[in-house]
Amino acid sequence: MKKQLELIAKSYDKGIELGKKGIDLYDNFPSYITSHCNYPLFEQMRMNETLSDSARKEIVEYLAPKVGMRFIDLGCCLNLMFAGYKDWRSTYYGVDISSKTIELLREYVEKNCLIVGDLYCCSMHETPFDTSFFDIGECVGSLEYFEKGYVQQAVAEFSRIMKSNGRFVLDIPNIGSPEFEITKLIEEYLGRQDQFDLSEEEFDTILNDYFIIDKKEIVGPMIQYFLIRKTKNTPSGSGVSTT
Ligand SMILES: C[S@@+](CC[C@H](N)C(=O)[O-])C[C@H]1O[C@@H](n2cnc3c(N)ncnc32)[C@H](O)[C@@H]1O
Repeated sequence: MKKQLELIAKSYDKGIELGKKGIDLYDNFPSYITSHCNYPLFEQMRMNETLSDSARKEIVEYLAPKVGMRFIDLGCCLNLMFAGYKDWRSTYYGVDISSKTIELLREYVEKNCLIVGDLYCCSMHETPFDTSFFDIGECVGSLEYFEKGYVQQAVAEFSRIMKSNGRFVLDIPNIGSPEFEITKLIEEYLGRQDQFDLSEEEFDTILNDYFIIDKKEIVGPMIQYFLIRKTKNTPSGSGVSTT
């Protein structure tokens, strides 16, 4: 797991560095990718901005950010700059494993005199925040890189830092869909292999210990989940409820 976290951080750090020079990693793929039968689907998703979509109106409508609410964005990337999050009325907290991403966000905040809660470089399965700290949260476009053990820890951490009844949006890959298969090939080429190894049913079982699944939607290569943090955790199989 440590190795995978390092690879992911390195790949996104590189993306930021090249981005600063005006180079987009999504341009100029090798021919084994561009000649793949699902590549036109990828281009279409990119054009429609449905690849990994934190900017969807459905998310902001569901989370309904308000003044006084704390919002946690896990695997935040540059959402504050490009997904409209700087205009949300809630207080923004961003977590990302890429130090270059957090560095760039801090510069952006300072330059634009924005007020945020915190921007933190760490892995989302172990965050520095107090228990029940956040009113609303999301983790979009990140869980696909990790295997079951990590995903379980991350979901438990999301639950720990969220308030009871807090709303949360996350996504997992729609494994087997042509949209995900081409995205997976591209991510692998970019040095960040998707390692998600759970079926939708297995993932739902993990979630059910902590969250109520309000609804699910297929968005490009992903399945987006709209969740409510349970008032009590109900570990499956134990028959015991814990707060
Ligand atoms: C595909 S981008 C998604 C960004 C954004 N959430 C969106 O939907 O557009 C994934 C981001 O998650 C970060 N990330 C991936 N794994 C992470 C982890 N385990 N902990 C924290 N951040 C992570 C990456 O560095 C990257 O910035």
